[in-house]
Amino acid sequence: MDVTDSEHIVALCGSQREGSYTRQALERTLSAAASSGATTDLVDLAALDLPVFDPDRPDAGDATELRRRVREADAIVLGTPMYHGSYSSVLKTALDYCGFDEFEGTVVGLLVVSGGGFPTPALEHLRSVSRALDAWVLPRQVAIPTAHDAFEDGCLTDEALAERVDALGADLVAYAGVESYPETTTACAVPTAD
Ligand SMILES: Cc1cc2nc3c(=O)[nH]c(=O)nc-3n(C[C@H](O)[C@H](O)[C@H](O)COP(=O)(O)O)c2cc1C
Repeated sequence: MDVTDSEHIVALCGSQREGSYTRQALERTLSAAASSGATTDLVDLAALDLPVFDPDRPDAGDATELRRRVREADAIVLGTPMYHGSYSSVLKTALDYCGFDEFEGTVVGLLVVSGGGFPTPALEHLRSVSRALDAWVLPRQVAIPTAHDAFEDGCLTDEALAERVDALGADLVAYAGVESYPETTTACAVPTAD
């Protein structure tokens, strides 16, 4: 797929921890996206005031700023630490302030970091949530297990894992702006009785 205009890639970081591995991995993802010609924005949810979502206060705190930044995206990458077998509550809160206006038809990439060896449940949960928002979820996803062994001085120590993070960044740019289902002629063809 050719990239003609500059695509804009937005990352949501679901860890508020100083020195977060998730944030480090997202920074690398966005750096790879920038190398493919994109502009980028890392939305650090720790820096936004986002109270637990209340449907009676959908514009609470910095919700309007969050939605504005997410709406600017041609593709979004959701990054989260694994918390109790799923993704973090701060990311859930951010997603609840958003909806179809931010996600429908938008390409989404997924990245999960875990302390243990099995980050995949959080990836599955985020894939399901993204589908509920009518996003286009990329098949290539990134799982970074045993995080404290995976990083050294802010860099991923495993070359193959680092390449996968870079590939996610490149995929986000390559598939950003996918707009609709491709036209098909056969799927909708109704047989005629002669
Ligand atoms: C509340 C909490 C729950 C966690 N639950 C899990 C878990 O279920 N499985 C796991 O492998 N790691 C779990 N961890 C470890 C984190 O996934 C790990 O420390 C990760 O690196 C944190 O990401 P961060 O560095 O971006 O903050 C948990 C950590 C916290 C604070």
